[in-house]
Amino acid sequence: MAKTPLEFYEEWTAEGMAKDESLRRNTSQEIVYLKKYLEKDKRILDLGCGYGRVTIPLAKEGYIIDGLDIAPSFIEKAIRDSKLMGLKIDFRVGDMRNLPYEDNSYGNIISMWGVFVELPTREEQLRAIKEMQRVLISGGFAIIDMPIEKKQMAVKTDEKGDEIFIDPETRLVTGKIAGVEIAPLYNHNVDTLSELMKDAGIEKFRAFNDEMGGKNRQFLIFWKR
Ligand SMILES: C[S@@+](CC[C@H](N)C(=O)[O-])C[C@H]1O[C@@H](n2cnc3c(N)ncnc32)[C@H](O)[C@@H]1O
Repeated sequence: MAKTPLEFYEEWTAEGMAKDESLRRNTSQEIVYLKKYLEKDKRILDLGCGYGRVTIPLAKEGYIIDGLDIAPSFIEKAIRDSKLMGLKIDFRVGDMRNLPYEDNSYGNIISMWGVFVELPTREEQLRAIKEMQRVLISGGFAIIDMPIEKKQMAVKTDEKGDEIFIDPETRLVTGKIAGVEIAPLYNHNVDTLSELMKDAGIEKFRAFNDEMGGKNRQFLIFWKR
């Protein structure tokens, strides 16, 4: 049986991810990037927020932001850390395929560092897109950040403990990250993202590669009519 994202993250732990973040992410640069899009007068949802790596700095900058993640121990750390800083953020445990929010609740949704590619099937991805559309207000938008398409069939990076394999049929990426076996990840590209938008009946969207914090990343932005 393939590992689930919840099993992977509870094994990696929030502390493990926080340690690894400095090798892989440049949070302050990501905040600068996001600020080009986000609006201070809108309520923002950080979907798959982890331990609040991006949620907490944005709240500190005065954005009204909530966070949701499937991993309870990550949400516990996010609540602990945000309380210590005197921030009021609604952090909740939940699943992006079934959001615990009312229709038309958020102006912006962000989802950073490959949360979306943790949904391994098109059906689950469509469910999550429809849920985001449901909780967005009219004219609101979601920004989804994910890795650029992996082209090599097998990648081995011994010093970080990464070992990645790609199935060209299912587009699923399996293997190990930082020495820990991952849950399967979906290997999206601009074409597969555009097909997904078509299937979801969304006309206004952008799927593109861009540099963020010194890294080449892939983005999907879509709007609710
Ligand atoms: C690579 S981490 C990124 C965390 C955070 N967005 C950040 O940038 O630091 C991916 C996160 O997605 C969460 N996740 C995976 N599947 C999810 C789902 N179905 N619903 C909500 N969160 C999910 C994981 O628990 C994990 O915290």
